[in-house]
Order: sequence, then C-alpha cells, then structure tokens
Amino acid sequence: MRTKLKNMEKIDLRSDTVTRPTPEMLQAMVAAETGDDVFKEDPTVNAFEERVAAMFGQEAGLFVPSGVMSNQLCVFELTSPGDEIILEEKAHIFNYEASSAAMISGVQLRPLKGVHGLLSPEDVEAAVRTTNDWDPHTRVIALENTTNKGGGAFYSLDTIKEMREIADRHKLFLHLDGARIWNALAEAGYDAETIGRNFDTISVCFSKGLGAPVGSMMLSTRERITRARRTRKMLGGGMRQIGLLAAAAEYALDHHFKKLKIDNLRSKQLAKVISENPHFTVEPDSVFTNILLFDTPGPASEVLEILDENGIMMTAFGPQTIRAVFHFQISDEQFDRVCSFFEFYGKS
Ligand SMILES: Cc1ncc(COP(=O)(O)O)c(C=O)c1O
Repeated sequence: MRTKLKNMEKIDLRSDTVTRPTPEMLQAMVAAETGDDVFKEDPTVNAFEERVAAMFGQEAGLFVPSGVMSNQLCVFELTSPGDEIILEEKAHIFNYEASSAAMISGVQLRPLKGVHGLLSPEDVEAAVRTTNDWDPHTRVIALENTTNKGGGAFYSLDTIKEMREIADRHKLFLHLDGARIWNALAEAGYDAETIGRNFDTISVCFSKGLGAPVGSMMLSTRERITRARRTRKMLGGGMRQIGLLAAAAEYALDHHFKKLKIDNLRSKQLAKVISENPHFTVEPDSVFTNILLFDTPGPASEVLEILDENGIMMTAFGPQTIRAVFHFQISDEQFDRVCSFFEFYGKS
C-alpha cells in the first residue's frame, strides 16, 4: 500500500513563494544588528533600503511586509481619488489585490488586453483619456515585469523606454510591479539601474524566487518614500526590529539571485518535455522565465490529482490550465522526476 506523502515531502511547484529559509539564511538573520525601525533606528534595514534603491537608480527605499502593500503604497502615492490607472488585464494589481486600489486610493483601474500580460505601447497610448470634463483622469501606467498570470513574460528595454516616453508625453506616472523583476534581470540582458531609472515608483519582492520568508520594497524619490512611511504606518505596516527580515532578504539577494537562471531554464526544459506528450498543449516559445503554463486534455483538477498522487504539486490556473513555478529548492533529482511524469503520462 502506498503511504500518503505529507505536503512537505512533495515536489512543490505551486509557487516560488513556498521556499523555506535555509540554515545559512537563518544564521544571517540571527547575526543581524537590529533597532526600532519605526524610529528609523534599524541599521540593517536602513542600509538595505539604501542599497536596493541605488541598485535600481532610485533615491530611497521602504521595506514593507508584502508585494501588495508595496504596490498599494505606490498607487496611493501617485494618484488622487477618481484617477485611472492603465494596466494589463492579467495584472496582479487588477486581479489579486482584493480591490485595494479602489478601497485605499479610490482609483479606477483600466485593464487592457495584452499578450502574456504585457501591454503594447500603442494600446497604452490609445487608452490615455482626454481632458474632457466627463473623462476620468489617466494618471499612471502600471507595468508588471515579469508577469505572473501572464506566464512569466518580461518587457524589453526598448518597450520600457517607449512606455516612459508615453508617460512623459501625457504627463503620467510609470509604475513597475517588479515582484519577480529578478527573474527578468537574470534573463533579459538588462541591469536593474538601466530599467529602474525609467520608473517613478517600483515594487520589488524578496519572498518570491529569491526565497526570503517575507519582505518587499517600495522604491522611489526620497520625498515619496518619506510620505509612504506614514502611509505604511497608517496601514499598520510600521515594524520594529525588522533587521532580522532585511537580513534574510539581503542574504537571498546575495546568494539566491544567481540561481534564478536555473529556474528559468528548467521551466523551458519541462515545457519541451510536455510539448512532446500529445495529451498536453504548451508552446515552448511562450515560456520566458520560471513560470510555466500549460493546458490539460480534460479538467485541470483531474491532472492535478494524479500529479499529487505522484508527489508533485502544481496549481490550476484556469479550468484546463495548470501553472508550475520553479524555485531554488527543487533538486536535480526532483526535476528529473517531474520530467519523467510528463514523459510517461497517458502512455501506459
Ligand atoms: C506580480 C505580483 N505582484 C505582487 C504580488 C504580491 O506579493 P505578496 O504576496 O507579497 O503580497 C505578487 C504575488 O505573487 C505578484 O505575483
């Protein structure tokens, strides 16, 4: 009789947020110098905020608990109630942030249909409103890089620059939801500063592929970050000795960033294996970084159940779509097992 595996023993490809702190990361946390961050007295946080801001060519940073809080602080900072934000219809801000842009900032979201979650400059420019009395005020263009629901796609430097030009032409702000910007940096051939300078506000996460247990950062001008500190407090996000958390995030940046290329490569390798099994549909050319989306012959739930029985966890991303996300805590042996599953699925 087969014994049922606990989740911890399974190959967990549901998300890159499922990683656990490594012993080395825990050591870095224990060794961190700390102070009360509400008093701006945590030296580890202060230094880390400066370091990440400089990396992205921004003046200042604010360490926050989550990517949602970071995005929403940016939205709050850039808009007034009634303003409109242009984004892609698969955007995290539109789909997965519990309507907080409407609740916290009183803004309207204008989702546009793009490709793999990426907006085209032409569509964005066409969506900018006029100044007629009855039009909402377009205020922000929000890009997601890499895209989550869009399957890990990333913007080219040229497109980012074009978006900046559109924003300048129409006096708009440009925001980057860079929860997985690290996977784009590992793949796209541009560096953080080159792309970072194009944006008015940036949100980056340390708790996705980088593998920190918690932590995101808002990046922008010193003035905006000063105001956002107050908004963070208002939302209950003022934290005390969080040098512990910043140390984990910094450890992740220093030691796990270089592993992202492997995650990006594995999702492409698995896509190839899946594409060779006629039961599934996947376009290997539509796999960009560590997120892989593929279609199932029947309900995704049936395939997920069989995967689970074989010790592999993925998530449904539609009635007949499954998402797998690679991260550094998948071993070579586990990766081979996942590939074998898809090689032999439906062939016995
Ligand atoms: C693109 C994107 N933005 C923002 C977030 C929000 O991050 P958090 O879960 O830390 O709030 C996520 C989470 O997966 C994401 O994928």
